[in-house]
Amino acid sequence: MEQKYLIRTFGCQMNEHDSERIGGLLLSDGMSPTNDAADARVIVLNTCAIRENADNKLYGNLGHLKPLKDRRPDLKIVVAGCLAQKDQGLIQRKAPWVDVVIGTHALPNLLELLRRAEIEGPQMDVREYTETFPSALPAARADDVRAWVSVAVGCDNACTFCIVPLVRGPQRSRSIGEILAEVQDLASRGVTEVTLLGQNVNTYGRDLTVPGSARRPLFARLLREVDGVTGIRRIRFTSPHPHDFTSDVIDAMAGCEHVCEHIHFPLQSGSDRVLRAMRRSYRRERYLEWLARIRSAIPGVAVSTDIIVGFPGETERDFEDTLDVVGRATFDSAYTFQYSPRPGTRAATMEDQVPKDVVQERFDRLLTLQERVSLERNRAQVGRTFEVLVEGEGKRDGSTQARTRTNRIVHLAAPLQRGTFADVRVTAASAHHLTGEVVSVQEALVV
Ligand code: SAH
Ligand code: SF4
Ligand code: F3S
Repeated sequence: MEQKYLIRTFGCQMNEHDSERIGGLLLSDGMSPTNDAADARVIVLNTCAIRENADNKLYGNLGHLKPLKDRRPDLKIVVAGCLAQKDQGLIQRKAPWVDVVIGTHALPNLLELLRRAEIEGPQMDVREYTETFPSALPAARADDVRAWVSVAVGCDNACTFCIVPLVRGPQRSRSIGEILAEVQDLASRGVTEVTLLGQNVNTYGRDLTVPGSARRPLFARLLREVDGVTGIRRIRFTSPHPHDFTSDVIDAMAGCEHVCEHIHFPLQSGSDRVLRAMRRSYRRERYLEWLARIRSAIPGVAVSTDIIVGFPGETERDFEDTLDVVGRATFDSAYTFQYSPRPGTRAATMEDQVPKDVVQERFDRLLTLQERVSLERNRAQVGRTFEVLVEGEGKRDGSTQARTRTNRIVHLAAPLQRGTFADVRVTAASAHHLTGEVVSVQEALVV
């Protein structure tokens, strides 16, 4: 009987992309995917360590899997991802029924570890350095129209709240040639949208330039090269750092036909005092000036952001500074987070941790403001016509979900096939999506 695998993914896009590679490895070993844990021979939990609730989710899931493992000892349970890298031996101490703990740098060894676990019992590989890019492994891609392409792994920054440099290591970039070969291959198989992935994606290539000379990122060049790949109609990237939106990157975004008019511009805080304590290199006025520059260089660009509420020492005054910047920046959307202390980071041991009820109250105020701004920004789109790419079925029968180049979700009443490009007129707006009607359907590209 064919053996099945199940992968649960808890983290960001890079984590999801790693899951595609894990799936690819298991497929190449003759297995097939299932959604049913009871059917699975291998269950992989691909974890995230960014906030505390991510930890809780892992141990909750492992608790649920214990009775299954007791009934079926041949089941193999794998913990992968950032929490595997961070908690290492702790996972098997807390949950001895875990067969394999595999860190972020060790993915290529998965099949070997599973084989060894069969014979020798529990295995762990949490090496500290990436030798093979996950992109070099086979992939079981979740989507045949849009694809993630890993361009760099790791992060050289040291934002004091963030666990990522500890679990993903320093930045290592892939060569432009390798990236282009992957994008060309995807395009030849009908993919029309690529999202370039890196923990600090717009410093791509800084580690590739000759040591000793000015170590410049090559991100602008990468955008131009990917823009030239025939068949790719949309290019996105995540996640960037405001500091690294240098003029050459903005010029490349403005000049490349296929680079979408959307930028993620993570603010984190609107208070200069807090930004300094976070070790974010920009300050509020500089951030707003730069945003204005981007908006004038790229007409119609949509801007999203990340904001943390309740960083240690954040006062009411600091928080009001955040509200002030949010009001002035008029983001199209924002991911808002309550600060979560991560053991091992600088901020976790800072004094003046903000009480939970204060964080919650500020968080609610921020959300209310941003919802209002998002709604206004979306309402301003009503009556306009945009090109969308159909991503799949909508919630209602016969409906479709599509996305603008500016990353806005559009609900359509018409049943259109995934991968279709269409022009739609926006008829209504809410804070998180638009509703539209189809003006014309572009002929689907046949590859
Ligand atoms: N590389 C990305 C960040 C990835 S983490 C960047 O530099 O923008 C995504 C977001 O999670 C961060 O932007 C931050 O807003 C949030 N985050 C990271 N660590 C956090 C923590 N300890 N508590 C709460 N939110 C956090
Ligand atoms: Fe974390 Fe992003 Fe800062 Fe890197 S740049 S340390 S990933 S928040
Ligand atoms: Fe989480 Fe790791 Fe991504 S900590 S946010 S899965 S890089």
